Amino acid sequence: MKHYNFDETLERHNTDCVKYDMMSQLYGREDLIPMWVADMDFRSPDFVMDAIKQRCNHDVLGYGIPPEDYNKAIINWLAKHYDISANRDELHFIPGIVAGIAYVLLCFTNPGDKVIVTTPVYPPFLNLPKESGRELVCSPLKKTDGRFSIDFDDFEQKSKGCKLFILSNPHNPAGTVWSKQDLCRLAEICHINNILVVADEIHADLTLPGHRHTSFSTVNEIAKAESITFMAPSKTFNIAGLGSSTCYIANPELRKQFFGWLDHLGVAGGNIFAFTGAQAAFSQGEEWLDQLLHYLKGNVETLKNTLGEKLPDVKVMLPEASYLAWLDFSAYSLSHQELNNLIINKARIALNDGTTFGGIAYEKHFRMNIGCPRRTIIEAVERIATALHSL
Ligand SMILES: Cc1ncc(COP(=O)(O)O)c(C=O)c1O
Repeated sequence: MKHYNFDETLERHNTDCVKYDMMSQLYGREDLIPMWVADMDFRSPDFVMDAIKQRCNHDVLGYGIPPEDYNKAIINWLAKHYDISANRDELHFIPGIVAGIAYVLLCFTNPGDKVIVTTPVYPPFLNLPKESGRELVCSPLKKTDGRFSIDFDDFEQKSKGCKLFILSNPHNPAGTVWSKQDLCRLAEICHINNILVVADEIHADLTLPGHRHTSFSTVNEIAKAESITFMAPSKTFNIAGLGSSTCYIANPELRKQFFGWLDHLGVAGGNIFAFTGAQAAFSQGEEWLDQLLHYLKGNVETLKNTLGEKLPDVKVMLPEASYLAWLDFSAYSLSHQELNNLIINKARIALNDGTTFGGIAYEKHFRMNIGCPRRTIIEAVERIATALHSL
């Protein structure tokens, strides 16, 4: 068995990457530990890199089509991991999930239509409806026993008159894994209100040992018929830069409408490396993923222990899936601006500002990306602790 080394330090500065090379633009300085945008500081898997290098042996990089083996690799992955028995016609390539959600908004809703989300949530879920003239309806999540839970009374109330629900399953920013029961209840409310559900399951493969992801479409026949699911190897295998994702729709009418719209407009073509990379990842990635998940679980433990020891007043929601932790600094009497200043200019860490996930209610929260070598987490917490203790 091959052993993958997730403790390795990789130099990513000056590689035109968002995480490192956009910090001076976004945070005003570049000497920060980047723990923000959701990609990991781990080597993309060797089998993906090899497949891409091999594709480069052909001298023409013209337009490509998804190869049959690429489709088969996805179908096998969905059957094995999620109990989804998809056939070829039920899948469509999408060049990124944010693009996919934008396309759903354009295809199924009109300006002025209401779109519901549960906050805090991945910022494009808020910005896409707002910027396209839809009315954004936010149903805040509750905090129950240190984790997020859905406020079903609020959701039920606010969902009346909505056309679309964008669900993060598992949930970004805290890596919350929704139970089958939660998803059934959401499906029921959406069905009663005639709401189409967009299930963004980009983080599903990274559900950590001890937790179980349920794909929204599998909870019952209603959910299957009234949803559009997006999935991707981007987060799983740290290949987000390939822009490779998949849309799954079981309902033939919805499929005809959406896939027909995509093909008619020609907005969902893929780059050839997106096909090659995803095919290699899904057909050869089990062992790599298994080792990654155990490493990430260790990172979660490390964050929990280091915070407990150095910063017990910072409350953390630990991820049940993926590598994003939600930190709450409410115990400190610092303003939003003071907190940001402390974390960026004193601790010198780049985190995601909580307000971007749903506004002022989250002004004392930050999202921390712990998809990195373990020692980075320890150093980051120590630096934040030193900065806070020096006040
Ligand atoms: C919930 C969620 N959806 C979508 C994306 C981005 O997907 P893509 O890069 O395919 O647009 C992210 C990235 O962080 C995410 O967390």
